[in-house]
Amino acid sequence: MYPIFEFPVVGGGMIIALIATFHILPCHLATGGFWITYFLERKAYAENDAGLLEFLKKFTLMVLIFCFVTGSLTGVGIWFASTIISPRAISGLIHNYVWGWATEWVFFVIEIVTIYIYYYTFGKISRKAHLRIGLLYAMAAWLSMVVITGILAFMMTPGKWVKTGDFFDGFFNPTYWPQLFFRTSMMFAIAGAYAAAVASFIADQKTRKTVIKTAGAWGLAGLLTGGLFAFWYYHKLPIRTMEIIEAFAYAKIMFNVSMAAAAIAGIYFVILLLGVTGITRPVVTIGMIIIIFIGIGGGESVREIGRRPYLIPGYLYSNQVIAHDVEAKGIRSEVDKFTESGILSHYYFIPDSLRQLNEKNYLHAGKVITKLECVICHTMQKDGRSSLPDLVNNMGMTSAEDLFYFLESLGDYPYMPVFAGTDVERRAAAVFISQLSGDETAAEVDPQWVLNGDG
Ligand code: HEC
Repeated sequence: MYPIFEFPVVGGGMIIALIATFHILPCHLATGGFWITYFLERKAYAENDAGLLEFLKKFTLMVLIFCFVTGSLTGVGIWFASTIISPRAISGLIHNYVWGWATEWVFFVIEIVTIYIYYYTFGKISRKAHLRIGLLYAMAAWLSMVVITGILAFMMTPGKWVKTGDFFDGFFNPTYWPQLFFRTSMMFAIAGAYAAAVASFIADQKTRKTVIKTAGAWGLAGLLTGGLFAFWYYHKLPIRTMEIIEAFAYAKIMFNVSMAAAAIAGIYFVILLLGVTGITRPVVTIGMIIIIFIGIGGGESVREIGRRPYLIPGYLYSNQVIAHDVEAKGIRSEVDKFTESGILSHYYFIPDSLRQLNEKNYLHAGKVITKLECVICHTMQKDGRSSLPDLVNNMGMTSAEDLFYFLESLGDYPYMPVFAGTDVERRAAAVFISQLSGDETAAEVDPQWVLNGDG
């Protein structure tokens, strides 16, 4: 167990989500962009179209700068944010998939090297060699997606890994193929939107028309096939996940947001396909990228909601308590251990004085327990995101005694982990939450009740 990281009001999860959603744009462009480039470059050579080559140079520079600056920054950002917010999840993933990441990294290095060579050798080497470099980039970039999708899908549906602990059982899990095809389709749609955006800065009308027609065709094809694969993907999700998604009004809103964004993008791609150059003004083309970004955000939120209460289903809860045995890996659930002998006595990063509860430290201990077990999903501030004091007040249960019983029932909610701790710890947490919610009786709680209960 590692130190707790609390991000007030907004919540740590939201921070990771924002960075990760943004990251999807540059990385899908990096993977999809060069298939369009390869196609257009062949076309340019076949038709001896200098204007189109000029566009390609601009587009490549944009991919180079946008993807390799913002993509790298947000990529590192995801690592940084999740390492401090959910260190155990990262640790668990690294212990299983370090070689997966190493493989991805190899493809990533090929990408970086080839895109620089590609950009700086425009018109300087034979056409055939230049095309091959572009193709090499496109393949390396897509292969990095082939690898990373295995790890991403593992976090959603670890599949047989839970029983066997086997690298490939977790990698080629139940949602691997639908996700890979979905992401592959979406990378064409995102690349189409970007190609149109760059085209809106090209003065030559003929080139602009050629590019937007291609961008529209690729975008529309990507979006439509993406829709089909998304449908397949949702049907591969476990029933538990579907139930949680359906239980949340918020998930429905987010789902509708992504559907609306997809519909707008669909109409936009049709207009591009028809070659209506009038629409390719920067406000429209860049606005569309923002709409796609919002759509991705909607889809990603639904996915995140469905993962609750786990970081890795069948293994690790969102609050980093190990939820279930994974025998093949020698991993033991911590829930029973914490219920019998306490979470604080097993928690590494706290002052020794908190390990044993007494009359003086129980409130402080209650605060630490609450943060350990709840802060990943609830903020501790009134009016914060999924605010614990607000939820408790809405529930109408703010006395320590009521909260003590409520905490016992936490695991009955399909989206919350069970409370892991002794009865004394549960009472200490209940007093703290009662105080946090502004209940006046919290100050009058008898320390003897916390330490010894009713008996
Ligand atoms: C995996 C994420 C997660 C964790 C961890 C978690 N919760 Fe929740 N909790 C939720 C969600 C989601 C809701 C639904 C309300 C919402 O959307 O904010 C919820 C709702 C609640 C409610 C309102 C219940 C009702 O019936 O109105 C309370 C109270 C609550 N949580 C307390 C806690 C406490 C205390 C902890 C820590 C011991 C905790 N939660 C841990 C996700 C979590």
